[in-house]
Amino acid sequence: MAYIEAKSCWKTYGTGEVTVVANRDLSFQIEEGELVVILGASGAGKSTLLNLLGGMDSPDQGELWVAGRDLATFSEQDRLQYRRTAVGFVFQFYNLVGNLTALENVELATELVADALDAQSTLVSVGLEGRQNHFPAQLSGGEQQRVAIARALAKKPKLLLCDEPTGALDYKTGKQILGLLRHLTQQEGRTVIIVTHNAALAQIADRVIRMQDAQIKAVELQEKPLPVEELEY
Ligand SMILES: Nc1ncnc2c1ncn2[C@@H]1O[C@H](COP(=O)(O)OP(=O)(O)OP(=O)(O)O)[C@@H](O)[C@H]1O
Ligand SMILES: [Mg+2]
Repeated sequence: MAYIEAKSCWKTYGTGEVTVVANRDLSFQIEEGELVVILGASGAGKSTLLNLLGGMDSPDQGELWVAGRDLATFSEQDRLQYRRTAVGFVFQFYNLVGNLTALENVELATELVADALDAQSTLVSVGLEGRQNHFPAQLSGGEQQRVAIARALAKKPKLLLCDEPTGALDYKTGKQILGLLRHLTQQEGRTVIIVTHNAALAQIADRVIRMQDAQIKAVELQEKPLPVEELEY
């Protein structure tokens, strides 16, 4: 079985007469250590899928396997534990706590798991040496996003889920973040899933999953993804 495998996975929002099918009969596979880009227009169902993979929500029908466990069978408690320990989540707008320093923001995450990385060295690993005592408002967008990535990484998740991680960043900073995410797959064997509506980012992926109208339109494997340094967008 693949590291991640969705089998006829459905997610519908709402009840009664007003319902929206956000994920319709999704089936796909992702192998461990891949950098995956999920592409699709606004409303295509990308964040819905990422939330399912992150244990924030549960599929209505079908199976969603991650590392040998079917998330569709999880109880609320199982999902809580899974969110805390098994996945890292990076949001478009960082979601840092404004009145905590960079270091304290990362420490919030390290307190959740038994064998977390050292918060300070995780900040250093994302290039934020010397910035640990800054508050989010004293950091640039790219620096804040790196704190958010450090916060996700400090729990040592094998799976990192990123929703528009470069959406709020300028070109140069965005490329730095993409380089960091690529490094995590190539050098550390982690699986990274990036959701974006920016089609150019597909070039750097090992696997591209194209979504449209709540469905998967295509899955493409790329033998030789473009190195991030050569990406233009
Ligand atoms: N909590 C919710 N309640 C009701 N409908 C929702 C909810 N979340 C998402 N939807 C609907 O589900 C569909 C898919 O939404 P989703 O957020 O997954 O899209 P997306 O591809 O991430 O879009 P974007 O690129 O704009 O972030 C949309 O029609 C949206 O309105
Ligand atoms: Mg979204």
